[in-house]
Amino acid sequence: MKKTIIGDAVLYHAPMEEVIRELGHADHIFTDPPFLYLKQDFDKPFDESLLFENAKRILPDNGFISLFGRGTSFYRWNTRLAELGFKFREELVWDKRRSSGIAKHITRVHETISVHTKKTGILNTPRVPYEEMRAYSLDRIAYDLRRISSRLDKPDGIEKLKIVIAEKKARLEFDAHSKYGVSFSEDRMYADTCCERLCMIENGMLEKSIISIGRTHCNAVHPTQKPTYLAKRIIALISSPGDTIYDPFMGSGSFGVACMDMGRKYIGSEISAEYYKTAVDRIKQSGYENGRDSEAGLEASEEGQA
Ligand SMILES: C[S@@+](CC[C@H](N)C(=O)[O-])C[C@H]1O[C@@H](n2cnc3c(N)ncnc32)[C@H](O)[C@@H]1O
Repeated sequence: MKKTIIGDAVLYHAPMEEVIRELGHADHIFTDPPFLYLKQDFDKPFDESLLFENAKRILPDNGFISLFGRGTSFYRWNTRLAELGFKFREELVWDKRRSSGIAKHITRVHETISVHTKKTGILNTPRVPYEEMRAYSLDRIAYDLRRISSRLDKPDGIEKLKIVIAEKKARLEFDAHSKYGVSFSEDRMYADTCCERLCMIENGMLEKSIISIGRTHCNAVHPTQKPTYLAKRIIALISSPGDTIYDPFMGSGSFGVACMDMGRKYIGSEISAEYYKTAVDRIKQSGYENGRDSEAGLEASEEGQA
């Protein structure tokens, strides 16, 4: 078993089955397992019971396990987690915008992600930057700007808007869940739609269950590589800075790069020598190599337990 440490990331060239047995703790598991329907080398069956039983052992009560998946295997994994006592928290859809391959009957442009907690985990309510939530769509941004200008064109518009913004701000600070757009009168309603958009631009927007992010195409280094930014959106939902996230099926290390960018500690395992090397290179390139690098057996690591 090979091990490389890059700053707060620990990467294993080893099957998940070997690594998870030895792991003592992770705050969360976030992974993209082999979906078990592709006719590619890396899409091979793994020991599902071992993964989920050990997930229960290593996670704290408020830890999350979040999985990508599709079809029968995905439903089986989710059912298995429920049988083990995990609690389902959320289902997210990744809208890839473009098809990932030639589909027989439909153009498939999404993947599904499920989020479960071992017992008591509560999802965060991160605010996603406005332009990212609007998927950089000029049409959608232009629509919001039109709504804003419709208010500003009215007499006293700015004054009324200031009042509503002050109220909204107070409410926002009080409760991150607060809904925009509450209206009391026609004037207030106009101010609200305008204010809603200004607040969205200023403070970002609450995450949605459908995350629209284009696939990594031209510079992809793994056939099923996930965009780092997609990983960040999910990491923001399930974890806090300083948490340790284990990714049993690391692939090219996209989740590792995201964890490093977001101040999370990362543990990854990958069975393929080629993808392991790719992950090591990508995580090194992400610029968090201040820690030491080493290659050693899991047993021989200086931390003792991984
Ligand atoms: C769906 S891919 C992950 C892609 C990754 N999210 C990325 O962005 O590059 C699954 C990976 O799991 C690896 N794998 C398959 N079985 C494994 C096992 N038992 N232990 C560890 N890795 C395994 C495959 O080689 C493949 O790279």
